[in-house]
Amino acid sequence: MDHFLYRDGELYAEDVPLREIAASVGAPFYCYSSATFTRHFKLLDEALEGMDHLVCYAMKANSNQAILKLLGDLGAGMDVVSGGEYRRAKAAGVPGDRIVFSGVGKTEAEMRLAIEGGIRQFNIESEPEMAVLSRVAASLGAEVPVTVRVNPDVDAKTHEKISTGRKGDKFGIPISRAREVYALAASLPGLKVIGIDVHIGSQMVDFEPYRLAYRKVAELTEVLRGDGHEISRLDLGGGMGIPYERTNADPPLPRDYGQIVREEVGHLGCEIEIEPGRLIAGNSGVLVSEVIYVKSGEDREFLILNAAMNDLIRPAMYGAHHDIVPVKEPAVGELPTKYDVVGPVCESGDTFAKGRAMARMQAGDLVAFRTAGAYGAVMASEYNSRPMIPEVLVHGDQFAVIRARPTFDEMINRDTIPEWL
Ligand code: LLP
Repeated sequence: MDHFLYRDGELYAEDVPLREIAASVGAPFYCYSSATFTRHFKLLDEALEGMDHLVCYAMKANSNQAILKLLGDLGAGMDVVSGGEYRRAKAAGVPGDRIVFSGVGKTEAEMRLAIEGGIRQFNIESEPEMAVLSRVAASLGAEVPVTVRVNPDVDAKTHEKISTGRKGDKFGIPISRAREVYALAASLPGLKVIGIDVHIGSQMVDFEPYRLAYRKVAELTEVLRGDGHEISRLDLGGGMGIPYERTNADPPLPRDYGQIVREEVGHLGCEIEIEPGRLIAGNSGVLVSEVIYVKSGEDREFLILNAAMNDLIRPAMYGAHHDIVPVKEPAVGELPTKYDVVGPVCESGDTFAKGRAMARMQAGDLVAFRTAGAYGAVMASEYNSRPMIPEVLVHGDQFAVIRARPTFDEMINRDTIPEWL
C-alpha cells in the first residue's frame, strides 16, 4: 500500500496534488511519500517483533539525506556499501553503532573511515579482505565486530543481474568453506567474530529460497558454535520483492517473511539483522514526467516523455516494468490506447514500455511512474547532459525539495579545461 492515490480526479502524494508540485519544481522529478516510507519500515520492524532485531535499511535503494534522517529517526540502522554511503549515513545523524558495512570490495580507506567513525559490524566477503581489515583494525588498536558473508548456493529465483547467492556469483565465501574461514578470522588480530551474514538476491517475490538459505545458516550456526565461535548475530540480508504491477497477485507480506525467520533461526537466540532496501523505498516514490510529443510511427504511437533512461534506468537495464499512469485521472469508461513510452535520449534502449495500454495523452500531460522510490534517483546519471532531476518529499499537506535540480552552469563547471589546451 502506498500514499499515491487519485482524489478529485487527479493523483495525489498524500495530501498534495502532484500537479501542484510539478507547477512548482517542474517535471520531471521524483516524489516521495514520508508516510509510505514510515509505514513500510514499521511493517518490517513489526514482522520481527519478539526477536531481538535491527532493521538496517539498504541505503543503496535511496540514499537522499532526508530519507536517511526520516528512517534513522524511526530507529533504523543502515546497511552501507561504500565510504560515500557511510558518510551519508553519518551526515544524516545515524550513529556508527547502527551502521553495517557490506560489499565485496571494501578498501583500506573505507575500513579506516568506518572504524574511526564507529561501526556496528563489517560483513566480510573474502579472505584477502579479512587480512586487510585485520591489519587496518590492529593498526588503529581496534577490535572490530565481524560476520562473514556466506554464499549458501541457493537460487533466489529472481532476475539474473540481481541474484547473488548461487555458486558462481561473486558474493561471499562458499558455505562449504565456512569452518576454515571462521577459524582464520578467529586467529587474526583486530577482528571479533560475532555472527554470520547472508544475502541471496533482490526482488524476491517467492520467499521459499529464504527458507532454504536460512536453514543452512542455522545449521552453520550450530557447527560454528561447536567450533568455539561466538555466533550471536545473524544478518539475513535484504531482497524482499514488491509488486511492480497493480495487477499482480497479492504480494508476499513482511509478516510472512518474519514467520520464516522465526521458524528457521528463531530458536538460536541470535540478534537478527535484516537489510531491506526496495521493500521500504520502492512504493514510497513516483517519478513524474511530462509528455513532450505524441508521435505517430509506422505502426505505432510513441509517447515521448521528458524523463529518460538516465533518470530511471531500470526498464533499460533489467527490462523492468513500471506502471505509468496519467496524473489526471482518466474518465470512467474512457477507452485506452497503446503507446510505446520513450524518453528523448538517443538510443533505442531509452524505452520505458512497449505497447502499453494507457488513456489517450497529449503534449503537456503529466504521467507518474509508480514504484520508482527504490533504485531510481540513486542510479540516475547525466547522460546526454541531462541534469539530474529534483527529488521532493511530501509529508501530509507539505512538500519540500530534498535535492534541487542543478543548474547547467553547475553541471558544466564540474569539468575543467587544462591550461595546455
Ligand atoms: N543487502 C545487500 C548485501 C545487497 O546487495 C542488497 C541489494 C540489499 C541488501 C538490498 O536489497 P533489496 O532489499 O533492495 O532488494 N538495482 C537493482 C537492485 C540491486 C540490488 C543490489 N543489492 C534494481 O533496480 O532492481
